[in-house]
Amino acid sequence: MTAADLLRRAAAAIPGETPRLDAELLLAHAIGVTREALVLGLSDPPAADAIARFEALVARRLAHEPVAYILGVREFWSLPIAVSPAVLIPRPESETLIEAALRCGRAGWPATILDLGTGSGALLVAALSEWPGAFGVGVDRSVAAVAVARQNAAALGLGARARFLVSDWGGALGARFDLVLANPPYVEAGARLAPEIAHEPADALFAGADGLDAYRALVPQLGRLMAPGGRAILEIGAGQALAVQALLRRHGLEGEPVPDLGRRPRALVIRVADGRADLASGGEPGKRWGTATAPGDGSGRCVAGGRVASVDKLETCGR
Ligand SMILES: C[S@@+](CC[C@H](N)C(=O)[O-])C[C@H]1O[C@@H](n2cnc3c(N)ncnc32)[C@H](O)[C@@H]1O
Repeated sequence: MTAADLLRRAAAAIPGETPRLDAELLLAHAIGVTREALVLGLSDPPAADAIARFEALVARRLAHEPVAYILGVREFWSLPIAVSPAVLIPRPESETLIEAALRCGRAGWPATILDLGTGSGALLVAALSEWPGAFGVGVDRSVAAVAVARQNAAALGLGARARFLVSDWGGALGARFDLVLANPPYVEAGARLAPEIAHEPADALFAGADGLDAYRALVPQLGRLMAPGGRAILEIGAGQALAVQALLRRHGLEGEPVPDLGRRPRALVIRVADGRADLASGGEPGKRWGTATAPGDGSGRCVAGGRVASVDKLETCGR
């Protein structure tokens, strides 16, 4: 049987919107070639062991496992991001946050980046790849996600400029950042989702009855996490812009909607509201990023309650 025959048969059975693409990616993986090389050799008959591997991969796809989990990798911002079922598969629409951050750019900005709910680390590594002089911190409540993010940063040669820690949002942080990125969970509890999405971690998806619980927890922290002149960029779900903007206003912040390629508001670019400079300049003195004010506690643990105020202490937490 040729590669073309195998692809035709698999694509007819695979669920979802991209059955042919899925089949090509799985067959290329089973044979051990790139998708481009596979397409050039469609009339070749793959070896028997490659066919057996392909059939096992297709069986997983027929059980609605996403291709990214089967292959262990997903491209984001043209970077190969390793994924496991411990992390959300990065979505193309989240690239809207990086595009919006690039539009905020000015010389030497941002020097420091925070990614809240980092998951695979996709947003942080994408941002660090754009700003080669920047240093970044990724936090997640999930220990397993932090391990994946750290591995991604290292694999992409960005490990020296990234630190990762386990924290309940910014609870463990006392530093301020030029750019704060966050793609929090925003799906309503009980929402009916595609069976593929059921493979992804519930903690990365659901945020209470109206999908806004994570914003309620995060937004009150943003003012103290943003450096003077800083920006925060939050991803939002369909129909959530007005509710999140109202929440921001209650905390002295303004959020400007940014559309994605489908022209839906996908992110809010957030700044301190006029007349609320106190928010960005307040806080404890000396807790600007890079100013060592708190000694590492030496415990190697870094969770909510133990605030991180300096690079020194992040060294303790990040490795
Ligand atoms: C929608 S996923 C985003 C992952 C990644 N940033 C991306 O864009 O692909 C949300 C992430 O927030 C994390 N998360 C949920 N609740 C959290 C909390 N209270 N504190 C920190 N992280 C949390 C989840 O574990 C998950 O990794």
